[in-house]
Amino acid sequence: MSENVHVMLTEEEVAGRIKELGKEISGDYEGRELLVVGILKGAAFFATELAKRITVPVRMEFMSTSSYGSSTVSSGTVKIKQDIETDVAGMNVLIAEDIIDSGRTLAFLLDYFKKKGAESVRIATLLDKPDRREVDVNVDYNGFTIPDEFVVGYGLDYDQKYRNLPYIGILELD
Ligand code: IMP
Ligand code: MG
Repeated sequence: MSENVHVMLTEEEVAGRIKELGKEISGDYEGRELLVVGILKGAAFFATELAKRITVPVRMEFMSTSSYGSSTVSSGTVKIKQDIETDVAGMNVLIAEDIIDSGRTLAFLLDYFKKKGAESVRIATLLDKPDRREVDVNVDYNGFTIPDEFVVGYGLDYDQKYRNLPYIGILELD
C-alpha cells in the first residue's frame, strides 16, 4: 500500500488566512484578555501561529482529548487525556482546533468550559468539514471550509505521520 499527499492549501495560503483570523479576533476582543486553548496534538501549529497574530493580551494553554488512533474514522466518544492548568472561571476562552469533523470534540469542549464558569467560550478552527457534521456546533472563526477528504499536514496526522508538513494536503491511500 502506498500513501500520497496532494497539496490542497499551500503554506502561503494557510499563513495568510491565519493572519486574517488573528486580525478579526483581535478586533472582536478589544479591551479584553484571551485564554487560547490549543487542542493537542493537531492544533499545536495552528494555536501558536494564531496566538502570534492576536494583539490583545493572550494566555496559552494546551489540552489533549481522545483521538482517532490510527483509524480515519471517529470513535464517537470524547475523553480528556490531559487537562489545562488555568482556572477558566471568568475568562474568555478561545479553543483552537485543527479541524471540525463530526463536531463531537468541540461540542464536548464548549460544554466543558461553560460548566467551569468561563465568561465566554468561542471556537477557532483551521479547517471545517461540514459534510461530516453529526452534532451541531457554532464555529466562530473558521480558516477554510473543505470537502469530505482526509487531510494531513500543519499539525494533522495520519497514524501520527505528516504533522510536520508546512501545508495542508489530501492523503491518498492506494
Ligand atoms: P470531531 O470530533 O469528529 O469533530 O473530530 C475532530 C478531530 O478528528 C480533529 O481534531 C482531528 O484530530 C481528527 N480529524 C478529523 N478529520 C481529520 C482529517 O481529515 N485528518 C486528520 N485528522 C482528522
Ligand atoms: Mg485533534
